Amino acid sequence: MCGIVGYIGAQDATPIIIDGLRRLEYRGYDSAGIATLDGGKIDIRRAQGKLVNLEKLLGEKPVSGSCGIGHTRWATHGRPSEINAHPHYAGGIVVVHNGIIENYLALKERLRSQGHRFTSETDTEIIAHLIEEHHKQTRDFEAAVRRALGEVRGAYAVAILCEQEPGKLIAAKLGSPLVVGKGRGESFVASDIPAMLSHTREMIFLEDGEMVVFENGAMRFSNLAGTPLEKAAKTIDWSPLMAEKGGYKHFMLKEIYEQPRAIADTIAGRVLEEKGEVYLEGLDLSATELAAMEKVFIIACGTSWHAALVGKFLIEKHCRVPVEVDIASEFRYRDPIVNERTLTLLISQSGETADTLAALREARGKGGKVAAICNVVDSSIARESHGVIYTHAGPEIGVASTKAFTTQLVALFLFAVHLGRVRGTLDQAQGRAMLDALVTLPRKVEAALELDGAIEQAAREYMGARDFLYLGRGNQYPIALEGALKLKEISYIHAEGYPAGEMKHGPIALIDENLPVVVVVPHNDTFEKVISNLEEVHARGGRVIAVTDHTDPGLTEKSDAVFMLPKIIDELMPVLTSIPMQLLAYHIAVLKGTDVDQPRNLAKSVTVE
Ligand code: F6R
Repeated sequence: MCGIVGYIGAQDATPIIIDGLRRLEYRGYDSAGIATLDGGKIDIRRAQGKLVNLEKLLGEKPVSGSCGIGHTRWATHGRPSEINAHPHYAGGIVVVHNGIIENYLALKERLRSQGHRFTSETDTEIIAHLIEEHHKQTRDFEAAVRRALGEVRGAYAVAILCEQEPGKLIAAKLGSPLVVGKGRGESFVASDIPAMLSHTREMIFLEDGEMVVFENGAMRFSNLAGTPLEKAAKTIDWSPLMAEKGGYKHFMLKEIYEQPRAIADTIAGRVLEEKGEVYLEGLDLSATELAAMEKVFIIACGTSWHAALVGKFLIEKHCRVPVEVDIASEFRYRDPIVNERTLTLLISQSGETADTLAALREARGKGGKVAAICNVVDSSIARESHGVIYTHAGPEIGVASTKAFTTQLVALFLFAVHLGRVRGTLDQAQGRAMLDALVTLPRKVEAALELDGAIEQAAREYMGARDFLYLGRGNQYPIALEGALKLKEISYIHAEGYPAGEMKHGPIALIDENLPVVVVVPHNDTFEKVISNLEEVHARGGRVIAVTDHTDPGLTEKSDAVFMLPKIIDELMPVLTSIPMQLLAYHIAVLKGTDVDQPRNLAKSVTVE
């Protein structure tokens, strides 16, 4: 997730672009850059870190021009640095990009053989070179962009300038958002509405596969094949803050709704479906090293620890290696038995959690191999690990983790398939079947989000409860824990997650008509057993909220509310069951009027012990 802005008109582009980038910083803030085109010459300024660093640089070395493009970056391919910051330039072409190019390695190889030299580690630079190559052949900026975009696979929103055709700005979209702003004799393009809201409220939303050419104060829309399109503008009447949240009331809700995209980005470019294999670019641990591992530790804190608990089921089942899951603050002080045949997998959204970092150092110090699942590129945990699998969730602003959690589950699934394949515990057909299911996941998450209205209704009914109990079994027990944590964090209602089968050993004493019990009960091997647990709750007057993927008369009869999810393989079901947990906590918190995005006493990144 990154933010892009483009401007063409009579004013100086630089202040307009910088103002737009400032309003898009929530989309990424590890580096920023700008390119302006003035009299046939492109000027570029780029800086690592937040936008203020770019502004400082522009203070020292200003650029100007009536046409320009800018970018604020959230690193995916290539660590945050000035070299990897956008815009990227090649032979008169300059590009800013939001998205992930899946076939960038193959394209890079081909372009290299044609004599192109690359200066960054990014996938975006390929786009600039590809357009340059086609421009050499066609001498036509528009045709070159069409041809180049026809060759890339993956997701993109791009804005492009060309030194040889200075009066033109081209933008196109596939899978990443892009909005056009229509001014008087001037035009804007950006990843999101807030970037343009102080200049115009007339917006045109590009669809996938569409392109826009801005020239001579006008704009022309077409598809990639060149067929012209008529597109109508819409008037947006959002306040600037609403616009930053994409019209959602809170960042948390926006991030809940971003999950289909975040999951698709985490899968993109990593799945070799035919071979039943997974390619994990940054893992940096060879198949031989991984196959030699005799034990896996998964270490994390909070929500990431819940992902770790799901990871244990995935890895033990498919890789047949013992997995021990630990809370980072416990692991670091218990003198764990780690050696060179131990893999310690750290999970951290921020990559900066002090306890998780200390656990990493403990495992590494004892000679173990260390890998991380992180959302923030080049964070401390990512840097200090032997290898890293990035979740491509984009920045998570809401303090309560949502999209970072479900993408961690996806990263763990990818890792389990990879490890199973290299250890020979998963054959090609099994790997393929798992990956076939994985690629359907974003669509099923979308379907799960349709429960939102019904969950809001349920939230109204249960918001007055003093306590909640969440029950799940097997790989759904961590989801029960996560559901309870989400509710506690943002609504301040006491909640406990429990293994469903363990309830009779104590918590059953709590059950009465005032206790809502959320039962996560997908149709898997323990379905009947969880139904029995649910009956135990019902028989004692407890109010059952069931989350399932199976229509069962017994379940419907004994539940006060049933949330029905789409079906998917059991290994991926925790991703789907997480969605109602997030939505229920969110709506109860909103109804109670708490500060959803910044709940009391909590911080997004806990860098102290
Ligand atoms: C809960 C939450 C926290 C974090 C925990 C670890 O919603 O966000 O429990 O999961 O503080 O943070 P990371 O994953 O950044 O190490």
